[in-house]
Amino acid sequence: MAQVMAADIDAASLQRLQAEDARAATFVCDVSRRSQVEALVAAAEQQFGGLHAMLNCAGYLRAASLLEASEEMLDRIVDINLKGVFYGCQAAVPALRRSGGGAIVNWSSVNSVVAEPNTSAYSATKGAVLMITK
Ligand SMILES: NC(=O)c1ccc[n+]([C@@H]2O[C@H](COP(=O)([O-])OP(=O)(O)OC[C@H]3O[C@@H](n4cnc5c(N)ncnc54)[C@H](O)[C@@H]3O)[C@@H](O)[C@H]2O)c1
Repeated sequence: MAQVMAADIDAASLQRLQAEDARAATFVCDVSRRSQVEALVAAAEQQFGGLHAMLNCAGYLRAASLLEASEEMLDRIVDINLKGVFYGCQAAVPALRRSGGGAIVNWSSVNSVVAEPNTSAYSATKGAVLMITK
């Protein structure tokens, strides 16, 4: 049976998860920080004795037109959706190799290939996730 470590920036959500299942392994992690993603993978390896799969799922969506998107909003979307997935892959690959192999699943979106109004920043990062994965 697979052992799973749930990671999120939202500590309260992780606490609720543990309240539902005391055996749930959790880790507070901001995926936009490379050091925190590395610490997450290290914790999973230490707790489970190895890493066999990584799901990069954290995402952030704010809708705004191209002209209205603020610098702060764009930074946040890129930091979480693009850098977060990149850091997740960078941290996971060495650990997966140490375990003899495994899989990485990167959670993208239909917006990686389909355009919708007011989602240019989000869609750009989801297109990037597709290319990181390829
Ligand atoms: N909901 C949809 O219709 C839809 C459609 C296509 C793709 N997606 C993608 O699916 C994934 C999940 O979407 P969702 O709808 O469940 O979103 P959600 O907002 O419900 O969940 C996103 C989770 O990511 C966490 N998160 C945000 N910033 C983080 C950070 N810096 N570090 C760690 N965790 C962070 C949030 O706390 C939250 O738990 C995202 O990648 C999203 O882009 C969602």
